[in-house]
Formats: sequence, structure tokens, C-alpha cells
Amino acid sequence: CGIIGYTGSRPCAPLLVEGLRRLEYRGYDSAGVAILDPSRTPTTAVTRCEGKIAALAGRLEAEPISGTTGIGHTRWATHGRPCEANAHPQRSGRVCVVHNGIIENHGKQREALRARGRSFASETDTEVIAHLIDELYDARAAEGGPVDLLEVVRAALAQLEGAYAVGVVHDEHPGTVVAARQASPLLVGLGDQDREPECFIASDVSAILEHTRTVVDLEDGDIVRIGAGGIEAHLDAAGEVVRRGKRRIDWSPLAAEKQGFKHFMLKEIFEQPRAVRDTLIGRLRSEDASPSLEFAELDARVDVRALAERHKITIVACGTSWHAALAGKYLIEQLARIPVEVDLASEFRYREPIVREGDLVLAISQSGETADTKAALQEAQRLGATGLAICNVVDSSIARLADVVLYTHAGPEISVASTKAFTTQLTMLSMLAIHLGKQSGAMADARAQALLEGLREMPVAIDAVLGVQAAIKIIARRWVGARDWLYLGRGLSFPVALEGALKLKEISYVHAEGYASGEMKHGPIALIDDSVPVVVLALEGPGYHKTLANLEEVRSRGGKIIAVATAGDDAIGDVADDVILVPKVDAFLQPILASVPLQLLAYHVADLKGTDVDQPRNLAKSVTVE
Ligand code: G6P
Repeated sequence: CGIIGYTGSRPCAPLLVEGLRRLEYRGYDSAGVAILDPSRTPTTAVTRCEGKIAALAGRLEAEPISGTTGIGHTRWATHGRPCEANAHPQRSGRVCVVHNGIIENHGKQREALRARGRSFASETDTEVIAHLIDELYDARAAEGGPVDLLEVVRAALAQLEGAYAVGVVHDEHPGTVVAARQASPLLVGLGDQDREPECFIASDVSAILEHTRTVVDLEDGDIVRIGAGGIEAHLDAAGEVVRRGKRRIDWSPLAAEKQGFKHFMLKEIFEQPRAVRDTLIGRLRSEDASPSLEFAELDARVDVRALAERHKITIVACGTSWHAALAGKYLIEQLARIPVEVDLASEFRYREPIVREGDLVLAISQSGETADTKAALQEAQRLGATGLAICNVVDSSIARLADVVLYTHAGPEISVASTKAFTTQLTMLSMLAIHLGKQSGAMADARAQALLEGLREMPVAIDAVLGVQAAIKIIARRWVGARDWLYLGRGLSFPVALEGALKLKEISYVHAEGYASGEMKHGPIALIDDSVPVVVLALEGPGYHKTLANLEEVRSRGGKIIAVATAGDDAIGDVADDVILVPKVDAFLQPILASVPLQLLAYHVADLKGTDVDQPRNLAKSVTVE
């Protein structure tokens, strides 16, 4: 999750540890450093441990490593549980690697490496990188002559697919760090050469801010070799020598943690293209022309045809995850024709639910620690259901309890109000529904292909929505004084409306209610007057014309309408006071995209009100008590 690297003239152990401390806020479960000390054999000494940086610092105090070149890492588990063996740096032979991101084809590479006689000490995809580099290095060395570590790392990375930022050191190159980036942030920090010959790498500028404020951002496909004197070689994705511009960072350390965003919530909203892409990686195989899905561990445990014919799925969750669950019901029932019940975990556990042997229970939880969700999963398993979980935190309690876990790869979510965890849950549920649809026979291949293509394009579409932030802020300013808000949506937009209202009430402390559009006339219509903004999801698709009719009902009662609509919709402007347009995507994938403007709307209303956006009063990130 966090990378730092140093080469220079100062002892680097304290420097690496301090840098890792600055990254603590991002969340992590283990940490480690690799430091090159030419007086030792082997040259590189590695110290790692599970748990806090303080524990790592303690170990380094007890057994100091001197040396002025090294790499460090805080890990937030993605492949393999949190433990010392899975912590970074990962070593193979004379190579040590730290890595952020996910290697998509690590399974295949691991098999091939095993077949060539390599044995693995961890469950991580990172160890695959270390082995590949070590193997290639030895092959080059055997040819005689000096070996360029950068060239070797480049050749190794060419065999890997996925997202990564890596830092690499090698026993034979004591003053060198090689770093590369592919869709995962990484930068070089340039030391002040007049003061101290030194150079840094970091995944997040916070790690090195106290030493330098001059950085060079790596771009996708870039690889660099740094030495104490600075960047010695910098190649782009095509292997051409490049010079990237320097950037001066003026942020305070606090602002740097948020990468310049005012709040973690906003940072996390803007991380969604990356988070969604990481969730797709590893499941959505797009190596071939037509994308396919990979759910091998699920296929091994669940007979989908039997499930569709004789059983049902029960989804349990709380809060935002429950809204994802509701969307999951719409997705799975329509795409896979398997009956789905959705329950609030706190209700399910005490209502003597009907669950039978052979049923599937799906627990959705960002943290994997919510007490009610955990108990609901346990209860369903006790009644004979197979337990499936969608979690963000690897090896969390719910992940451990479940028979099969599907991890979203949102990365640590710090803001209490959930954003990227929600959209990645929706992404996973969409993939799951398509997969179940194919397995149950309910879904034609062509339809599945079209949806998968849509998912593949989703990060770009989210980016486009983030681009209209300024317009959303203007709407927020107009309505910041409203005391009551109504959110309406039908079909798959209904859970999005519920989540939009929840976001607003959680962080801005105003009353907001989400309703199914068709239910408006059964109650909420009584609330409508010109002081109540009504946020309506009016996206193109099956319910669109019915929704327009609802809008007329609101308008004729003086209500003010903020519509989220599909780009190209010319009619909506006639009925709505404000319109937020989102790119056109398949109706089944709209929830992922349509959630984003509502997050931004809630954020800006709260920010204008000046509430404590990241730590709203009375709320906890994870509720581990009943
Ligand atoms: C708390 C958080 C919510 C979250 C809910 C469920 O209430 O404030 O943001 O949606 O717990 O959490 P989980 O980790 O199980 O998804």
C-alpha cells in the first residue's frame, strides 16, 4: 500500500521507518524494509513484521542494519493474508522487491516459475516479480559482462499484466534503486544535491516530504534507475529515454496525506476509477479479444444450476453495503434468474429466517468486521447455507468465516462515509450476476459480452462524471440551506437513491430520504413544496418514461428537481431545475456510475456547511458491536 525507497549518504533505516510512519494513515497490516549493507553477506538485509510500524522500528533497534540504500513498504493485504511471510520486501535470491497493485497473471507465472524449479515462500503476487527478476538477472550475468538492473527489471515486468508500482534493489548494486510504474502511483523525490547527495522513490509524497519537495512523477510504463546523484536513467513505456518535468510540492504534510484533497472522502471519491479497475482486474480477463470472467473458487463450491432451480440466495449487510446488496438482488434476479432475498443483517439474525441446505448466503461488508453481518452469516451457515462474502479488507473476520470470499480492491477507505467501497461492491456484484447468469444458462453469451465490455469501460466513464464536479458544487451551493431532501429512483436506481440520501444525511446532518419513485405518491408527496429539493435518478432505460411522469407530479406541487440523467437527454431540462449528466452505459451498470454524482453532491453540501466530513458525529467506520 505504501512504498518508499532511498539511496544517498545517510543511514537509511531511520529514514525508511519514518517515511513508512508518514504513510500509516493509509492503513496497513504489515511492514518491512530491505537495506543494502556491503559489509554483510548477503548484502541486503530484510526486516519485516506483521502489525504496526512501531514493531518494525523495535526490531530494527534490537538488530540494527546500517547501509545507505534501501526500500520500505507498508502492506495492505490483497493476495495472501497479513503475516510476516507475506509482508514486503519480498526476496528471491539477490533481489528484493516492494510492490503496490495487483499482478493479474501471477497464477500462470507462478506455475511456470515452479516448473523451472523456483520455490515460493509467500502467497503474494509480489514474490512472482522477485523471482522473475532474479531469474533474468542470473541469465544475463551468465552471459558475462556487467548487467543493467533497469534492463532486467524492464524485461521481467514485460511478462506481467496488471497494475503495479515497484521498487527493486539487488545485492550487486549497492547504490541503486530501480522503480517502475504501471497504473499505480509512484514518484521520484530529488534530493538537494548541494546539501546531501540523495534520491528517493515513494508511492505517496507524504513519505518523503520532510526531505524534499521536488518530485518527478512517473507515468504509466515508466521505469527509472536512481542513484545518490538523482535519476540516472528514465525510460518510457516504449523503452525510449525520457525526461519528465519536475514538480514542486507546496502542500502541508496534512494536505499531502490527502494528496491535496481537502478531505479523505473527496480523495476516495476521486480514487474510484482506479478502485473499480482494480476490482475488475483478476476477475475480468481481457487478454483475449472478448472478455471473460474468472470465479474458479466459487465454481468449485456452488452448483449454480441447482441454486437456480431449487434454492435461493440471501444477501445480508448493513448500511451502505446493504444498499449494494439491494442492487445485487436486482442484478442477480434479472441476469441470472436466481431468487434473491435481501436482509438487513440486524433483522435477519433474529427473525428465524428460512434458509435451507444448499442455499447460498452472501454477506457484503467493506470492513469484514461488522458484528451484525458476521452474526447473520454465521446463522445462515449454521442453517446449512454456503457462505459467500464480498469484503474489502483481506483476512477480516467475515472473510475468514465465509466459504468463498470475493475481494473488492478499493484499497483502505479512511473516510467514515463509504464511497469507493460501495462502487467496487457494485462492480463485484455486476460481475457476479453476469457469471451466475452464464452458469445458470439464463444469459446469452452476447449479452454477457456486451456487459463485460461496459464494465471494462467503467473507469473511464467514472472519470467523466468526476469531471463535472464544478457543476455539482454549484447545485450544492444553491441547496445548502434545505432541511429536507428527497431522493427518488426506480429499478436499479432505487438503491442508488437510498445510498445518495444516506450519504447526505451521514455527513451534512440534514434529513434526506430515499424512496422508490413509484412509492412517492404513497407518502412522501405530502412533503413536497418549493423548499424540498428532490433528487431524481432519471437515467435512460426501462423506467425512464414513468420517471418523467413522477417528475411532473413533483413539479406540479412546486417541488424543485435535481435530475441525474443520461448524456444526450434533451427532454430532461424541460422538467428539471438542475441536471447532472452522466455518460450512457448499459442500464445494468448505471448504479456504479450514477452513485458518483450523488457522492459529490453530498460531499459539497457537507463541506459548505462546514461539518467534519471525514469523521461525522456519532458514526463509526466499522460497527463491531451489536
Ligand atoms: C458503518 C459505516 C458505514 C458502513 C456500515 C457497514 O455504519 O459507517 O459506512 O456502510 O458500517 O459496514 P461494512 O464494513 O460492514 O460494510
